[in-house]
Amino acid sequence: ELEDRLRKTVQPEQGRIPFFTYTDPGVHDLEIERIFGRDWQFLGHVSEVPNPGSFVTRRMGRENVIVGRGDDSVVRVFLNACRHRGMTLACEDFGEVNNWRCPYHGFTFGSKGDFLGTFMGAPFERVAYPEGLDRDALHLIEARCEIYQGLIFATWSKSGPSLDDHLGNVKWYLDLLVGKAEMEVVGHPERWMVPTGWRLPAENFTSDAYHTATAHSFLSRLNMVKGADFGREGYHVNVGNGHGLGVGVHFDEESYFPKELEDEYRANLDEDQFRMLSRIKNLHGNAFPNFTFLVPNFIEVEGRRVTGLMLRTWQPVAPNQTQVWSWHLVEKNAPEWWKKLGKRMYTQTFSSSGMFDQDDTEVWEAQTRMSDAALYREEEVFLHYGMGMDLPTLDKSEFPGPGDVYDGKFSEEAGRTFYRVWLDRLLEAKK
Ligand code: FES
Ligand code: FE
Repeated sequence: ELEDRLRKTVQPEQGRIPFFTYTDPGVHDLEIERIFGRDWQFLGHVSEVPNPGSFVTRRMGRENVIVGRGDDSVVRVFLNACRHRGMTLACEDFGEVNNWRCPYHGFTFGSKGDFLGTFMGAPFERVAYPEGLDRDALHLIEARCEIYQGLIFATWSKSGPSLDDHLGNVKWYLDLLVGKAEMEVVGHPERWMVPTGWRLPAENFTSDAYHTATAHSFLSRLNMVKGADFGREGYHVNVGNGHGLGVGVHFDEESYFPKELEDEYRANLDEDQFRMLSRIKNLHGNAFPNFTFLVPNFIEVEGRRVTGLMLRTWQPVAPNQTQVWSWHLVEKNAPEWWKKLGKRMYTQTFSSSGMFDQDDTEVWEAQTRMSDAALYREEEVFLHYGMGMDLPTLDKSEFPGPGDVYDGKFSEEAGRTFYRVWLDRLLEAKK
């Protein structure tokens, strides 16, 4: 019945999305099964697991996973559940181990996920299991894990597309953010709860530059950003595969990044990418389903222009609850002033204390409350996703990056594609 209702009412190509989908519990369950149970999901950056034995614990939908570098230096992802009776195996957020010992009965697993050898794997093994244990059957449940430019992704799907195919055209833009130089995560990712479904923030970063002039207008009055229309100049990109982004550009002669990094950028990017990087004023985007990336507007701190890189995931906890994960990354070889001011910029703009986040969160929370109420309406309520239908796309001479590119930011084409991919996933029968 729900699948029928979705098929009839979700009409991205007509710019119509029904309100109930924002927080419907049945929709949420389908998302958990058919998106978070199958799609590639971002889990962290290789700099977070630098050594053999390093690990962090992360989320894939409702599930907790271990991202660990084995003693062979390979990064793997495991369901964080002991194969004996399912107890959480790694209870810390991060650490460095030779092996994981379950806190319940003491079953022990190596850094490659293997149940350890006889007399090491289980306490009192000879007397408790005189007939022996099937060690292969006790191997930790392992996800498919692949890495792009230091970004660690995993999926539970054994047969789905490769990470390369899934990311597709968005790789060109990720190169600008994380491929341009050796990057490292500053500290650990922050986490906080927001009373909204995961999709509202994800689609906002995919496609919604329009809100900035209104929802964030206060920040221009504080002089944190220049002019209330700071989100207008630039390009909207429907990247494909449900990924979308917006690029703001500046027209200053000078690029803003530290000159010390220029050689490294040039060595890692092609000529088009380097030129684009030099002109980026801001870049917001989301790779389906819930991986957000952001270069915020450069702001002035202590008289110097500074920007940075933020990565996010929006983890579904309940139809109206999302856990935000937020990483701040910086170029490892950047001068100290850039690193120091970058942290200030991060805390002031997009973070648990970020002023942009305060604006956005209030909106998502209110939309969620209203959607909860709309669940009980008899008549279907449709929301408007019709901005910039049938606009012409730019060609390569006007914008070098891949995807369908639109001049200016008054388009929601990427948002409509996000919803098309989303709907197709939800209606895909169990594999
Ligand atoms: Fe892990 Fe029993 S649940 S050892
Ligand atoms: Fe915003």
